[in-house]
Amino acid sequence: MAQYDKSDLERRMAGAVESLKGDLSGLRTGRANVMLLDPVMVTVYGASMPLNQVATVSAPEPRMLSVQVWDKTNVGPVDKAIRSAGLGLNPITDGQTLRLPIPDLTEDRRKELAKLASKYAEGARIAVRNVRRDGMDNLKADEKKGEISEDERKRLETEVQKLTDSIIADIDAASRRGERKSSASKPGLSFCGHCPHPDLMATQAKSDLTSTAPVHGARHVAIIMDGNGRWAKKRLLPRIAGHRAGVEAVRRVARAARDMGLECLTLYAFSSENWKRPPGEVADLMGLLRHFIQADLDEFHANGVRLRVIGNYRVLDASLVDLIEAAVARTAANSGPVIAIALNYGAQDEMVRAAQQLAQRVARGEMRADEIGVETIGAALDTADLPPLDLLIRTSGEQRLSNFMLWQAAYAELYFTDMLWPDFGAAELGRALAAFRLRDRRFGGL
Ligand code: FPP
Repeated sequence: MAQYDKSDLERRMAGAVESLKGDLSGLRTGRANVMLLDPVMVTVYGASMPLNQVATVSAPEPRMLSVQVWDKTNVGPVDKAIRSAGLGLNPITDGQTLRLPIPDLTEDRRKELAKLASKYAEGARIAVRNVRRDGMDNLKADEKKGEISEDERKRLETEVQKLTDSIIADIDAASRRGERKSSASKPGLSFCGHCPHPDLMATQAKSDLTSTAPVHGARHVAIIMDGNGRWAKKRLLPRIAGHRAGVEAVRRVARAARDMGLECLTLYAFSSENWKRPPGEVADLMGLLRHFIQADLDEFHANGVRLRVIGNYRVLDASLVDLIEAAVARTAANSGPVIAIALNYGAQDEMVRAAQQLAQRVARGEMRADEIGVETIGAALDTADLPPLDLLIRTSGEQRLSNFMLWQAAYAELYFTDMLWPDFGAAELGRALAAFRLRDRRFGGL
């Protein structure tokens, strides 16, 4: 079997760019930005792992990051990892919480950040060159085994080189933007949504590199976040650890969705069928949701995000309903993207509620039965004021909709990935958007 795999090569190169983009956007401003800590790797349990797999990072104040370490035996290693990451951050430890004051954006600090940006960019170039080397080695091996001819090997080598050059050019451009922005005096500049697929990169590289217009063309993406349990099981951890890591993925993807210019991201957090799970797991999920709103609302609000909830959430615990409604109200006037959380959501239940609402209007004489149609039903659904659904993603290899947005998915493109939800991030979202862009959407026409 041939060893050379073009799509794997593209995926790995795109991953290097995506990870660089995340790292650079953390350096972008002088304010507290949780992405600043994305590159921090912690050595725990005999392995090196990203900080967000052992702790929750939040930005409770504009000039303060907070790191909540889940396991108290990891506080020391986390402290050490942050101090030695070259970020110029010195944690103040308070039990399992590390508080990180953000230094003033002085000229020296800017130089320090610019140096870090070029270090990250160099790391990304090395990663891309390593992928190129693997590709070239695989082509030689394929030729040796007689899988491809010499001419074919040469043709594919040229293709790999071209891809490498275009990705390195993209890294150079991102790095120049990063340096410009970390040396700019105006804080709070956001990162331009730059898609990772080579085709998209080429398109955007030809256009204005500083443009924020998304080239993927999607407005509304919804995700069935599946695989938390399997992620935990693979690591011999309890299921709650998988859900916790799932919340970190929610944070990463919410930021990426904003960076990539989406208008709306809908996340299936708790289905109307999830009540069948053991009560302890249901309580854990509700607790995570409560904590997520409490810990992340400030960041959402500061970034102009509008938080929405779809589903029959009003039957949840009264204090959680109050928290949700206060969060929705607080962010309602923002002008940024919508993050819609599907809670106690089932598409059939949503359609039943819509049908009842319309039937009641007919009974009250407010409308005629023959006025019920696609428009009126759409307007009675929980998603009435959200943009039409463009892309529905499901993680973990399952290929079904599980009662999620059945009406809205009528003409949505579907994207299934084997990746488990806690591993999902900007790179995979970018791949899904790249695939979306290449789809031919005809909406029943020709
Ligand atoms: C499916 O994985 C996932 C869920 C039922 C819950 C998704 C919830 C989160 C990601 C965390 C809370 C969300 C927010 C927005 C704070 P599974 O447990 O069914 O995985 P498995 O199929 O591998 O067992």
